[in-house]
Amino acid sequence: MASANDIRTKFLEYFGRHDHEIVASSPLVPRNDPSLMFVNSGMVQFKNVFTGAEHRDYARATTSQKCVRAGGKHNDLENVGYTARHHTFFEMLGNFSFGDYFKDVAIAHAWTLVTKEFGLDPAKLLVTVYSEDDEAAALWKKIAGLGDDRIIRISTSDNFWQMGDTGPCGPCSEIFYDHGPGIPGGPPGSPDEDGDRFIEIWNLVFMQFEQFEGGERTSLPRPSIDTGMGLERIAAVLQGKHDNYDTDLLRAIIEASADLTSVDPDGPQAASHKVIADHLRASSFLIADGVLPSNDGRGYVLRRIMRRAMRHAHMLGAKDPLMHRLVPTLVAMMGNHFQELRRAEALITETLKLEETRFKTTLDRGLKLLEEETGKLGTGEALSGEVAFTLYDTYGFPVDLTQDILRGQGRPLDQAGFDAAMERQRAQARKAWAGSGEMATDKVWFDLHETVGATDFLGYETERAEGTITALVADGVPVDSVEAGQEAMVLTNQTPFYGESGGQQGDTGWLMTTDGARFKVTDTQKKLDDMHVHIGVLEEGRLDKGDALEMTVAGDRRSKLRANHSVTHLAHQALREVLGDHVTQKGSLVAPETMRFDFSHPKPMTEEEIEEVERRVNAQIRANAGVTTRLMTPDDAVEAGALALFGEKYGEEVRVVSMGDAAAVGAPGRPGGFYSVELCGGTHVGRTGDIGLFKIVDEAAVSAGVRRLTCLTGEAAMRHLRAQQKALSETASALRTAVNDVPNRVVTLLDERKKLEREISELRRKLAAGGGGGAQAPAAKEIAGIKFASRVLDGVPPKELKPLADQLKGEVGSGVVALVAVNDGKASLVVGVTDDLTGKYDAVRLVRAGAEAIGGKGGGGRPDMAQAGGPDGAAAAKAVAAIEAALS
Ligand code: ALA
Repeated sequence: MASANDIRTKFLEYFGRHDHEIVASSPLVPRNDPSLMFVNSGMVQFKNVFTGAEHRDYARATTSQKCVRAGGKHNDLENVGYTARHHTFFEMLGNFSFGDYFKDVAIAHAWTLVTKEFGLDPAKLLVTVYSEDDEAAALWKKIAGLGDDRIIRISTSDNFWQMGDTGPCGPCSEIFYDHGPGIPGGPPGSPDEDGDRFIEIWNLVFMQFEQFEGGERTSLPRPSIDTGMGLERIAAVLQGKHDNYDTDLLRAIIEASADLTSVDPDGPQAASHKVIADHLRASSFLIADGVLPSNDGRGYVLRRIMRRAMRHAHMLGAKDPLMHRLVPTLVAMMGNHFQELRRAEALITETLKLEETRFKTTLDRGLKLLEEETGKLGTGEALSGEVAFTLYDTYGFPVDLTQDILRGQGRPLDQAGFDAAMERQRAQARKAWAGSGEMATDKVWFDLHETVGATDFLGYETERAEGTITALVADGVPVDSVEAGQEAMVLTNQTPFYGESGGQQGDTGWLMTTDGARFKVTDTQKKLDDMHVHIGVLEEGRLDKGDALEMTVAGDRRSKLRANHSVTHLAHQALREVLGDHVTQKGSLVAPETMRFDFSHPKPMTEEEIEEVERRVNAQIRANAGVTTRLMTPDDAVEAGALALFGEKYGEEVRVVSMGDAAAVGAPGRPGGFYSVELCGGTHVGRTGDIGLFKIVDEAAVSAGVRRLTCLTGEAAMRHLRAQQKALSETASALRTAVNDVPNRVVTLLDERKKLEREISELRRKLAAGGGGGAQAPAAKEIAGIKFASRVLDGVPPKELKPLADQLKGEVGSGVVALVAVNDGKASLVVGVTDDLTGKYDAVRLVRAGAEAIGGKGGGGRPDMAQAGGPDGAAAAKAVAAIEAALS
């Protein structure tokens, strides 16, 4: 039995022998198309080659392309698990001609490969052609000797292939395999064509047109060929299976899933195993290509796929997260051909595990809620959209997950109700988004990319270069010229300015013409990966498209960026050594003044770990080893020990930055003795010594499982250390002690302070009770039938009076209290009336009577407590007497 891996090799080698360049699969995230969510067929990476916008060194190519059809025009997510041939992830084998051969050669190759190389019985094959394509029909007759009864004309869109709403397209012709009369189903075009008897195995597209927005369709420069053969399908036919999930490719994962869950792979829960196998492939390949689960865009599609699989793992009774334990099986099956899987294995495992662990708790609670709600419904009655929205919003159930569950119960969802609830929430978000203009400007860049193409980046070698203006953009639209004072974006054919990417901020600097125009660049951004956009303001003169520019990067700032970028590589390696290999970079910010590094690690770093990372990085800096940059194939990069960077353009050269001297910290290092080897497009120092100094100033959490280091280098690190030292020596001199004694001194002072605080409160208690120093007034006496207690207190802070008056009120029980504090010759007065007497006596009125005696005016408060002050402290006793008089 031919394994799927053998079939892939056979296909590629066949076309390789026939002068086709064997091109690696492109990443799943399209680099050249704004309209596609994921690469959904083999031709996507060649889209611009078909239209003539891009040129390659070859006119024939063959690939085995990774495809995801989940979201967008081609979306198969809902069907996966319930049918034999739907996948979210699959591989498409294809051969391509870019204006080279056309229908005749394509048909001849297809027929030879299928019948001779793969050995399929010609009697079991039939084809379809587009109804108007007489030429194709005639060629099949001539080349394959097929009779009219086995050349079926189809007039529908089934035989006109389009990548998406726009892009290259053309009529197509499909080859079908007939499993024979024993299997139900009719030939293509017949009413029961959906049966399993006739299976499409290969689609040959005769690319002739380009479709534009709004319906316009033009002819391609030269007719071309695009074909697509699903590896899973052809493997099923060649392995004698009806179900793609029974091929070796998927069966291995299904069996691993069955082993881990102890649930029969072919029993009543077979669908769950299939869902898990398919979704594991889609999730793993997406993660390997740089997509991580999130709540919007591609990341959300990934999350939906992952969560759907996790629900099925739950149905199989898996107690612990399951998906990540299947990764080794997938890597064993596909990692040889798709090296990115191996490179990303740790990240895939970790991402799946984290998502499943976190989703598990809400999954249980959400399923319970759903069970309760559906329990209230009659057979086949729809679930309310509100409940589905709660599940979505509170429990993280993507709506297709809820639908998937309902489908199992034969129950629809009130989609309109869900949409309405969703719309309510969105309206809110839209307000914030409206007017931001992002949607509109993005299109500008795609259009410009088609016309002016990539910017040649010269900034690795130089910070000064000449360039020609290829486009100017002002207020979001392309313009021909810019006047002094205008803000604008400038595109040039080449530039020394680094565009923000890989966490490194964009360059700033100047663009000047010989006739005096001066454009100040405040930021440089990258659009569509390879266009460097200089953003800023024209301070003087005028710029026209086509002008030649002298371009100068702000050098000092760039030096700091270089140091801060290089140090992320050293820190990354040091973190892996100190914390373990699970550490992977999750993001970084390389700014001139600071560097932030985010990495996966489940808990805060200890003080010792932080110190050890600092020590290792600084040892590398002192080793002052060289930094080398090489361009190599991805395979060689991996060979060289490069830490993975995901989503690189496979098949092209990648930039590998190696630095440091492993021996300096006794680390095993990488081939060549380097301390760190990474794929990186950033700008770097010449030698590690240029970094100067490395200091971690903060370690904190960013999100679950991700930590962030904030670090400084060189001058900034030095300034930070100086500032800290200054603060310390000022502290020491205030404490009249040596710097080294500061910690001891502070501890002693804090102890003393605690002791003093205790003493003060003790004294206060005694004082109020009448036993303290300074008390000179008589104790409580009877005035007009009520108790009156008063004290004159020397040196008691005025703010202490109220609490003391409260205390005294408590002691008296029922009566009036008056306290006078004398400080620096001035008097403060508080009068308190117990609650039972506030109807009879008003503290405010009483305190005013007293205030007059000490030369004060007014006084205020509430009927039960009032205060006043006056300049005449010597009259304190008179104030008490005045209050007493006011009482009687
Ligand atoms: N691009 C064609 C397809 O996807 C071959 O079927």
